[in-house]
Amino acid sequence: MWFCTECGADSPKWEGRCPSCGAWNTMVEERVTYRKRELRTSARRGGGDIGRSVPQRVSEIKAGDETRIHMPSEELNRVLGGGLVSGSMVLIGGEPGIGKSTLVLQNILSIKSRRILYVSGEESAQQIKMRADRIGRMSDNCFIVTETSLENIFEHIREIEPQLLVVDSIQTISSEAVESAAGSVSQVRECAASLLRYAKDENVPVLLIGHINKEGSLAGPKVLEHIVDAVLQFEGDRQYMYRILRAAKNRFGNTSELGIYEMCQRGLREVTNPSEMLLSRQDEEALSGCAIGVTLEGIRPFLIEAQALVSTAAYGTPQRSVTGFDSKRMNMLLAVLEKRVGFKLAQKDVFLNIAGGLKVADPALDLAVIAAILSSNVDMPIPHGVCVSGEVGLSGEIRPVTRMEQRVREADKLGMKTIIIPQGSLKGVDVSKLSIEVVEVNKVEEAFRNLFG
Ligand code: TYD
Ligand code: MG
Repeated sequence: MWFCTECGADSPKWEGRCPSCGAWNTMVEERVTYRKRELRTSARRGGGDIGRSVPQRVSEIKAGDETRIHMPSEELNRVLGGGLVSGSMVLIGGEPGIGKSTLVLQNILSIKSRRILYVSGEESAQQIKMRADRIGRMSDNCFIVTETSLENIFEHIREIEPQLLVVDSIQTISSEAVESAAGSVSQVRECAASLLRYAKDENVPVLLIGHINKEGSLAGPKVLEHIVDAVLQFEGDRQYMYRILRAAKNRFGNTSELGIYEMCQRGLREVTNPSEMLLSRQDEEALSGCAIGVTLEGIRPFLIEAQALVSTAAYGTPQRSVTGFDSKRMNMLLAVLEKRVGFKLAQKDVFLNIAGGLKVADPALDLAVIAAILSSNVDMPIPHGVCVSGEVGLSGEIRPVTRMEQRVREADKLGMKTIIIPQGSLKGVDVSKLSIEVVEVNKVEEAFRNLFG
C-alpha cells in the first residue's frame, strides 16, 4: 500500500500527488498485513463480548463528577481548556529536544492521587530517573516502563490499571498486527487507534507524545490529528529558552490559548507573566529599531518587542528577512510605508525579528512592526514606556483590533506610560483611572509624529 505521510490517506498505487490532501510527493510504500480482530480482543480487559454501544438520549447521558482532571501546570490546563478530559486522547507534538518528555514527566510526577503509567519507547528507565532527579520530583504512584510493543503495553495496562496513560513517543510503538516498521504511517495509525479505543472504553485519558520530522522517515503527527481529541504543539527556538505550548486542535476548548514556559536547569518553569520576556532591559538606554506592541493570544494580552534593522542594500537586490512574523505581511507593510508615507525603503535591506523567539499572527502587531522599521530607518529610538497596538490597512489607516481595553490595561499594569491605539477603539470605556496616557491615531503619519515628535 502507499500512504501519504501528510494526511495518512492510502492508495493501492503510487501517486505523485496525494488524492486526499493534495500534497506533492508524500506517498511512501509500506507493507501491510492486518490481523485486526485478534488485536481488538487482546486490547480489552477480559476479552469476550466486544462492547456494543447503546444509543442514549442526550438528557440521559450522565456527565461524570470528574470530567476534567486538573493538571499541576496551570499553563497546561489553560491550553487544554481547563484540564485534561477523562477518556480523551491528547497528542503533544514538537521537534526533538524541545522538552516534551520533560513537560509531561514534570506534570505526572506532581499528580500524587492517581496511578499513572508512563510508557517510554525512547529512553531507559535510568534515563527517566535521572531526568526526574533533575526536575526534583518524585511520586509513588507513577510507574515507568520501557516498552515498544503495543501488545505488551496492553499487558502492563491490565496489570497496573492506570488512571492516566502516557506514551512517549507514539512513533516508537509498534503492533504485531501490522507488519511495517515502527513509525510508519500504518503503524502509527494502528497504534493510535487501539489506544484511542482503550481511552474511550475505559475512560482513561491518554497522553501521546509525537515527533515532527521533516524528512518523512517518521510519520508526522499530522496522521494522528484526525484521530486524537486535542493536538498540542510545543514549540520554541533552540537559542531561546522560552517554549510555547499551543493547541492546534482541541475538541474541549478553544485553540487560541497559549502556555508559556522557560526551560531551566531544573525543568520547565511556567511563565505566568509573558511580558517579562522582553521587559527585562527597560533600565538601559533606548535603542533605535525596537518597538513594543501589545498582542493578544487567546484571552491573555501581553507585551512583545519587535526589532527591525533597516540598512542600505549592499548588493543589487535588497534583502528582506523576517523571524516570528509573516513575511508577506511585512512586505505589505513596507509597501504601505513606501507609498503612503513616502519612506524610500525599496533600496534598503530590512530585517525584522520578534523578541523571545515567539511567532505571532495577531494583526495588532502591525503598528509595532511599522514603528520598529521607521525607528531604525530614521535611527531614532522610541522612548521608554511607549507601546503601540493596531492593525495597519492598505491605505495607511490604523484600524481597530479586538479587545483594546484589555490591551490597554495590560500595558498600564506593566508600567507603560503611553499607548498609541487606533481611533475610536476605546468607545465607552473608562480609562480615567488608569495612569497610562492613551493616544488615538487614524493614520500611520500621525502615529509617526507621536512617536518621534
Ligand atoms: P526533552 O524533554 O528530552 O525533549 P523531547 O522529549 O521533546 O525530545 O528535553 C530535552 C532538552 O531539555 C535537553 O536539551 C535538555 C533540556 N533540559 C533542561 O534544560 N533542563 C532540564 O531540567 C531538563 C530535564 C532538560
Ligand atoms: Mg522525549
